[in-house]
Amino acid sequence: LKIEIERSTAKKEKPPQDQLGFGIHFTDHMFIIDYAEDKGWHQPRIVPYQPIVLDPAAKVFHYGQTIFEGLKAYRTENGRILLFRPRKNIQRLNRSNERLSVPQLEEGIALDALQQLITVDEDWIPTEPGTSLYIRPFVIATQPALGVSPSTHYQFIIIMSPVGAYYTEGVNPVKIFVESEYVRAVTGGVGEAKTAGNYAAGLKAQEGAKDKGYSQVLWLDGVHRKYIEEVGSMNVFFKINGTVHTPALNGSILAGITRDSIIQLLKHWNIPVEERIISIEELYEAGKNGSLEEAFGTGTAAVISPIGELNWRAEKLVIRDGQTGELSRKLYETLTGIQTGTIPDPFDWMVEV
Ligand code: COI
Repeated sequence: LKIEIERSTAKKEKPPQDQLGFGIHFTDHMFIIDYAEDKGWHQPRIVPYQPIVLDPAAKVFHYGQTIFEGLKAYRTENGRILLFRPRKNIQRLNRSNERLSVPQLEEGIALDALQQLITVDEDWIPTEPGTSLYIRPFVIATQPALGVSPSTHYQFIIIMSPVGAYYTEGVNPVKIFVESEYVRAVTGGVGEAKTAGNYAAGLKAQEGAKDKGYSQVLWLDGVHRKYIEEVGSMNVFFKINGTVHTPALNGSILAGITRDSIIQLLKHWNIPVEERIISIEELYEAGKNGSLEEAFGTGTAAVISPIGELNWRAEKLVIRDGQTGELSRKLYETLTGIQTGTIPDPFDWMVEV
């Protein structure tokens, strides 16, 4: 499928690189491809960034049949453009599509779309340390009909945003409220799909945490309110007695690509890493007896976000005096070094655009 390109005539002004924020500014172009039951995916095109017109009955507005992804492109010191593990995002998009009854996208088309869109808007890739071009592919159900059934029509769209740090704390530790009332997802539901509803489901708890002076929530499992699942919109890791532990994927946890990369890095360094069930009681025990050495969240947006304090049922647990741990820092520096091309990539993660 050949991608038609309609170039924008007016170029937007680019924001200063020290004031990017996260997902506020968007590049000059976007990618769109349509799906119709009788035609499959068709008419791929890159067009000037613009509003989309949808029928108010479009299924995405009513029944939430929608998927998104997030990945980043980087500009290296010598001017190359690198994408971090893009095939992993496309494969996860297709797993989410499968769960939400959305037709599969061909990996080659999606990768080609990413590469061509980035090339068209390449002068939007920021270069300052800690910045990148965040890419947001998403699928929406566009059929205008109110019956509850999979849509017959979809659009797959890619937009891009030059970004700085996700949390204003950067790589400094954040304070986390352990959520005991609300849950994010349950096994058998859509927790492992990257779909809008999971994020909407989290807002109420996130607001509550903010009101109490915390940056984010730690999610516990929906059945027992006991086992640790995720932190905010990130996967979570704990270093206890020299071993790194992360909740095993159980169907309600998102299979993070940063999570997978961290596990590979730790194994490469011969640091023991275990994917298993971790209870909040066990974590507090480890915190109190001094064996909890570090805690951090991982995701595309923040990369590594150390956790400096937890609050569970009004009991505070300060981790590492609220300071960034050595392993958190080393993981952050290694991952961002590989991503920006300043250190070798032994895993072949980076794809040149
Ligand atoms: C992440 O990259 O960690 C995410 O989950 C994306 C976030 C902006 C929703």
